[in-house]
Amino acid sequence: MAAQAELRWAILVIAIVVFLLGMVVYMSLHWALMPPARIETIDPTTLHLAGEFTEGNLGTAIEPDGSVTVRVIGQQYSFTPQCLLLPANTPVRFRSTSSDVVHGFIISGTNVNVMLEPGYISTFEATFKTPADRVMPCHEFCGVAHAAMWARVRVIDKKDFFKQAGKERRLSCV
Ligand code: CUA
Repeated sequence: MAAQAELRWAILVIAIVVFLLGMVVYMSLHWALMPPARIETIDPTTLHLAGEFTEGNLGTAIEPDGSVTVRVIGQQYSFTPQCLLLPANTPVRFRSTSSDVVHGFIISGTNVNVMLEPGYISTFEATFKTPADRVMPCHEFCGVAHAAMWARVRVIDKKDFFKQAGKERRLSCV
């Protein structure tokens, strides 16, 4: 009787282990087979020559549909533009990439935190509640001058921003 009870427990334990292993295998295959949520690629070697990230396109702009987009490039060891001008209380779409190695940035006092990978466009949306001057340091080690790589972010009143944006195609506060 005791031996039978022991066997039952052993079978139960083995069943649990097999179930857990099966779950690991199933989830690994499942995720490996799924396409990633959303990936936009770009050739990092020609960023400055053509397309969305040429110098004249960097900075903040009002799109034809009225939304606000800011385009930023990270490179060893700076961001372009060096100072982002953004409207308060307005959803701002960030589109950014790197022209050399992996960089990243956070914006002080906010939950903005993104990685810039050469070959990929990092996109996200953020809203800044109040006008403020903030700093935007690189937070991925990218070489000897990593610690010196940072930009500024100036969030200004929405009305002032849209007034300025009416005059210039791309805004920054460099
Ligand atoms: Cu760029 Cu660290």
